[in-house]
Amino acid sequence: MRQMIYASSAVVEMTPQKLNTISLQAKRNNSINNLTGMLIYGDQMFFQILEGQTDKIAEMKDLIWSDKRHTGISEFKDSTISERCFPDWSMGCYRVETTATNDGQWPIIDVNSIMDHMPPTVTPDVRVLTETFFQIISPRSVR
Ligand SMILES: Cc1cc2nc3c(=O)[nH]c(=O)nc-3n(C[C@H](O)[C@H](O)[C@H](O)COP(=O)(O)O)c2cc1C
Repeated sequence: MRQMIYASSAVVEMTPQKLNTISLQAKRNNSINNLTGMLIYGDQMFFQILEGQTDKIAEMKDLIWSDKRHTGISEFKDSTISERCFPDWSMGCYRVETTATNDGQWPIIDVNSIMDHMPPTVTPDVRVLTETFFQIISPRSVR
């Protein structure tokens, strides 16, 4: 079992419709491939945690890496795990934005409450990485 975590920049500001397209694709394909994880969008950036069987992760990574909707991918983690952090989430999607109106299917959550919206199965390393990433980006506009 493998888990990868990365952040990237959306090429254009994501509308709720554009986000819906991504989550629909992700949830459908991930269910088929038994991939799980979380995807957060805010301040024109994506932060994603993806976990599953090693070969499925490698295949999905190729697909996501070549997706023209985002750029500037920074990989924070790609390593073996023993248990999934998000066993029940084919892809849990959230937005962290203060200016956006909630007219889409991605729930908007406060940047300071991301941890409260993660399942209890999330390991400390993933919590720390997620928290650190959003602490770094949040002064820009999401807070
Ligand atoms: C930030 C980001 C995250 C994505 N995450 C996933 C994902 O978890 N699973 C997935 O199948 N596709 C994901 N995609 C979409 C893939 O890059 C690709 O477009 C999609 O899998 C193609 O699916 P389709 O052939 O069924 O249309 C993501 C795209 C972006 C921009």
